[in-house]
Amino acid sequence: MMTKNKKLIEWVDHWAGICQPDNVVWCDGSQSEYDRLMQEMVEGGVAVKLDEKKRPGSYYFQSDPSDVARVENRTFICSKTKEEAGPTNNWADPDQMRQTMLGLFKGCMKGRTMYVIPFSMGPLGSKIAHIGVEISDSAYVVCNMRIMTRMGKAVLDLLGDDGEFIPCIHSVGYPLAPGQKDVKWPCAPIEQKYITHFPDTYEIWSYGSGYGGNALLGKKCFALRIASVMARDQGWMAEHMLILGLTSPKGEKKYVAAAFPSACGKTNLAMLIPTIPGWKVETVGDDIAWMKYHTDGRLYAINPEAGFFGVAPMTSLETNRNAMLSARANSIFTNVGLTPDGDIWWEGIGYPCPEGTIDWKGNVYDPASGEPCAHPNARFTAPASQCPCIDKDWENPVGVPISAILFGGRRPSTVPLVHESFSWNHGVFMGSIVGSEVTAAAIGLKAGVRRDPFAMLPFCGYNMGDYFKHWISIGQKTSADKLPKIFFVNWFRKKDGKWLWPGYGENSRVLAYIFERCNDQGKSVNSPIGILPAPDGIDTTGLEITPDDMKEVLAVNPDEWREEIKGVEEYYAQFGDHLPGELKDELKALKNRLG
Ligand code: OXD
Ligand code: MN
Repeated sequence: MMTKNKKLIEWVDHWAGICQPDNVVWCDGSQSEYDRLMQEMVEGGVAVKLDEKKRPGSYYFQSDPSDVARVENRTFICSKTKEEAGPTNNWADPDQMRQTMLGLFKGCMKGRTMYVIPFSMGPLGSKIAHIGVEISDSAYVVCNMRIMTRMGKAVLDLLGDDGEFIPCIHSVGYPLAPGQKDVKWPCAPIEQKYITHFPDTYEIWSYGSGYGGNALLGKKCFALRIASVMARDQGWMAEHMLILGLTSPKGEKKYVAAAFPSACGKTNLAMLIPTIPGWKVETVGDDIAWMKYHTDGRLYAINPEAGFFGVAPMTSLETNRNAMLSARANSIFTNVGLTPDGDIWWEGIGYPCPEGTIDWKGNVYDPASGEPCAHPNARFTAPASQCPCIDKDWENPVGVPISAILFGGRRPSTVPLVHESFSWNHGVFMGSIVGSEVTAAAIGLKAGVRRDPFAMLPFCGYNMGDYFKHWISIGQKTSADKLPKIFFVNWFRKKDGKWLWPGYGENSRVLAYIFERCNDQGKSVNSPIGILPAPDGIDTTGLEITPDDMKEVLAVNPDEWREEIKGVEEYYAQFGDHLPGELKDELKALKNRLG
């Protein structure tokens, strides 16, 4: 045992008693431990070591076809009352849930090893960081956690004899009888999967899945769902945001945080290569930001993670060179294709699929089959330190000062390329109405805007209305000039079914405008919905976009916005008394401005 922390030792003993593993291993986070676990998984037929020349130090995994993504309908917030979880979360009674899950956890690690994984979310010792300990029976989880967090002995040292930690218990839910052979990807059937959060005691219990956010409990479960509750209680912010550093041609630097719903290109924006001369983007984080007030009265952010758990398909040297280079070595690939020469392949990687490639289900890939080679949610797990554009302050324990907060979603209509809030509260209003448009073609979804406030819909650990209030209250803790400016961006506006704005690296043009606005410069005009760039406010030199299309991408159509307001009113209705008066006022003011 590597700790004298009584609470931790007792907690581990408690769960070992329930789960009944064959043995308990305390993870030290060393390279040799990682290599040994990978070696065991290779020998067990669970992992494939990729070719050492093509993809040094990297491994390949295929999950069970039933265990491929976060399972939102099996994710629960177990606060005392349903009201505390709010209308946007799955609530379950905490006592009942504990009983149900204890029944499942009983003996669930028979025939397996229980790993104790101490981890820090954020640079070790940072005042914004927090420590967690995950118990898991998956070596795959241990190896991923070593990339995604600061993991191992140094964390236990920091925890000391009486330090506090967030307890996270995880099992794949597949015990082995004596002599029973293991399967490649053990997991439990869907109706036995539970991704459960107890906000009152800051606890996470996860059963039945080995994949991504269901199993790497530091990420969505801790750094967003439980951390959002801690942040509410303690006066800070836990957000589904990337953090990037933006340097102007004059060498001035500002940091920007941005929230977009899943699959809207956060990783791409975080690592963007500007097309406009002299500008530079550097990455602090691509998914989560923890922000706290510093002594200078400004909000400072850290990236609580240490790696990228990125969606692989459509990532290429063309679309995201820096992500591709981050995963050039020492990475884990899950559910992509495996080429005959021991490398990986996926749709949109930028070159044809080599003959004889194995698909994510383990069959020889047949392009004529109409099935993809990589699962659409296939992932790479890559160390952030390998990112060519990683920011020099990405591990600064103080964090980085945030000058601007961006919200966005996929909106083919209504929402202009960029607009700025009149005030903090107006910005909170903008965050609360974030959404992406879904077409009727998407199974089970009504056509229209799927609201995803602050991109936190699946990640807020308490009542979303109270979360809005928390955002309002954050704005009251400092003077207006010290608060980040808030912007709403939309790269996805369409005309005749075609995107008006080229996106990707060209989004640097919008970032440059935002940068200027943060210096109270930049040519802008007021509109009913917020402050817009003047027609020549965004530099389009060298861009093939007609003045008409540029006008269209910035247009505010009052009729469309009146429709939008109807949708917002409907959406807001569910929050009842929990909806802050400030947001009702903002909605009313918007209506009045539209006339
Ligand atoms: C993610 C997500 O995986 O937001 O980051 O779904
Ligand atoms: Mn995310």
